[in-house]
Amino acid sequence: MDFKLDIPIIQGGMGIGISLGRLAGNVALCGGMGVISTVNAGYMENDFEENHVEANLRALRREIKKAFEIAKGKGKIAINQMVAVNHYEESVKEAVKAGIDAVISGAGLPLELPKYTKDTPTAAAPIVSSGKAASVIMKSWDRHYGVTPDFIVIEGVKAGGHLGFAREEVIGGTAKPLEYILKEVLEKIEPYRQKYGRDIPVFVAGGIFDGNDMAHFMNLGAAGVQMATRFIATEECDASTEFKDRIVKATSDEVTIVQSPVGLPGRALNEGIIKRLGKGETFPPVRCNDCLKTCPHGIKAPYCISRALIEAVKGNISEGLLFTGENVDRVKSITTVKKLMDELVSEWRKSK
Ligand SMILES: Cc1cc2nc3c(=O)[nH]c(=O)nc-3n(C[C@H](O)[C@H](O)[C@H](O)COP(=O)(O)O)c2cc1C
Repeated sequence: MDFKLDIPIIQGGMGIGISLGRLAGNVALCGGMGVISTVNAGYMENDFEENHVEANLRALRREIKKAFEIAKGKGKIAINQMVAVNHYEESVKEAVKAGIDAVISGAGLPLELPKYTKDTPTAAAPIVSSGKAASVIMKSWDRHYGVTPDFIVIEGVKAGGHLGFAREEVIGGTAKPLEYILKEVLEKIEPYRQKYGRDIPVFVAGGIFDGNDMAHFMNLGAAGVQMATRFIATEECDASTEFKDRIVKATSDEVTIVQSPVGLPGRALNEGIIKRLGKGETFPPVRCNDCLKTCPHGIKAPYCISRALIEAVKGNISEGLLFTGENVDRVKSITTVKKLMDELVSEWRKSK
């Protein structure tokens, strides 16, 4: 399908619970693409602990409906579905059934995504961090499903949350810059653009802060950007006020790279559970919902990442894990989605 956004900004999916229907709907209302994170979306449901699969699907249905109601037919609404999460199939099917505009999927290679989106109006988009990953996905989708991505998101090394790079590359500063990966991905998609006779728009993410950054990457061939950290500091973001305030106060020396139980490096604040683990405290998981395919589960995990993310979104900072992008120190105050989007678009238009 030909994929186009009125405003070339995707609000990146943020789990757990940071980007749900309210944030996504408000971004779409401004003409961008709002993204609901599916991972443990039902954390607020009364039966989440006993019945978490049902609770998550119920919450997902409600958040999608809410987002579409807020958006009033403007922009687009997507879900962010991590490959590393169990019950991938159920969430994607539920979202497609609810008429979601796109499924954006990363934290692993989403090789089976077209199985659920092919022949539906829902666009399918992988998140990649290298030309090689883009190439593997496109080859597999072409061979097994006869489709190619409707668009691609590249997540560079400055992004928040889990990172698709080796820990040494992130810490040692040897990960390829976003400009380089964009060039690589644009080269890799060319044969598929030709074969399928249409564009495959590429959006870049990770450290994009203002309209000048948008213009920079769009001049290099990106169709637009995906941004997350700045959207945390909005009134409409679905996180607690405590989480938002802590992000606004964060300084650059508080940003750290954590080794997540998921098996990937992640960017977070040296705060809450991370700070306490650093001081030698231990947090053996007390119960396990088996939510992640890659987690060592139960007593083998140093802490339960889902629980830490849920504590954070609820505002229990001292027991929480606060994911953040590298540019968090530049976020100075809480604004509204409309003001942020207007500012970005006007800067971008002036500098393009
Ligand atoms: C709090 C937080 C949670 C995130 N959670 C997810 C997630 O669940 N899935 C995902 O694919 N990316 C996740 N990300 C990455 C964002 O979607 C986005 O691509 C990235 O942070 C962009 O960089 P920026 O924050 O510098 O704008 C998360 C980022 C943050 C800050």
